[in-house]
Amino acid sequence: MPDTDLDALGLLSEDQADLRRHAAQLSDEDRARVADLAARLSARVGDLELPWPRLFADVRDEPGRPMGLLPLLALVASADAVRRFHATRGLSPEDSASGLRDLGQQVAVHRRTYGEFGLHTQGWLVGVWSGAYFWPGRLAFNLMHDEGRWVIDTHIPETGPLTPAVVDESFARAEALFARHFADHPATELHCRSWLLDPYLAEALPVDSNLVRFQQRWELYGEPEPGDDDAVFFVFRRRDVRAAERRLLPRDTSLQRAVLARVGSERPWQVRRGRIPLTR
Ligand SMILES: CC(C)(COP(=O)(O)OP(=O)(O)OC[C@H]1O[C@@H](n2cnc3c(N)ncnc32)[C@H](O)[C@@H]1OP(=O)(O)O)[C@@H](O)C(=O)NCCC(=O)NCCS
Repeated sequence: MPDTDLDALGLLSEDQADLRRHAAQLSDEDRARVADLAARLSARVGDLELPWPRLFADVRDEPGRPMGLLPLLALVASADAVRRFHATRGLSPEDSASGLRDLGQQVAVHRRTYGEFGLHTQGWLVGVWSGAYFWPGRLAFNLMHDEGRWVIDTHIPETGPLTPAVVDESFARAEALFARHFADHPATELHCRSWLLDPYLAEALPVDSNLVRFQQRWELYGEPEPGDDDAVFFVFRRRDVRAAERRLLPRDTSLQRAVLARVGSERPWQVRRGRIPLTR
């Protein structure tokens, strides 16, 4: 693997060591595959239209090798293409790096989920690598073309309390960033699609909790989508949990108890979409 700055991509030191170790063991055929995937990722940087292409759909994991290894290496190898695109749009190195650090966050989440090094959210990172994903402050955002207009899609990484003050600050920074650097794609509203917008949350948590106050900012629209899998993944970092295993999950916080009360019930969790008009 070339001498890439993995710190700049947010990879923790133990993940960096594992990545370098596995990269050193690749066959020539695997290296060619990584180069091809990286070229395909680089070629579509700047394409902000949905849907994000499923560039990694036919990349199979091999037994004995970390999940998502080749996509991960392709993402590392194509990060410079994203940086070059950011530079053409006048973004500061800090703003540019903020989105790319999501790679390290995803690898860390993978370790928490599966207990080992790897990546399983490479499909999401294809979108991050489109070049309009940033992490200004507490929340992360990407510019998205939705139903004929540009919106600022909002994401809630698990990095600390979601107080109203940090949310206000992050919204303001995101709005300014996109207005300045993507003025040719003027966004008319903030958008969020999340299980955290399920109105049930307001029944289960105190009205003055950060989560309920965050939820109350959004005007809901569109049809509800199934949300049980997201609720379990984001609170417990587990995938494909069966009913018998759910009984063993911790119930230490009100959110954990609320999630488990509904998963698999007749009133399951919902993913909802919400919007906040921009007043500029
Ligand atoms: C968003 C988030 C940071 C909010 O945390 P917060 O500001 O601490 O939330 P609140 O103060 O409103 O917490 C209310 C209750 O939920 C609990 N809680 C919040 N987040 C929790 C989490 N990730 N795991 C377990 N319990 C959690 C709190 O401990 C509190 O319960 P308690 O009073 O019994 O202690 C946190 O919920 C989180 O990281 N969620 C996962 C990320 C996510 O779902 N993103 C959306 C993807 S679509």
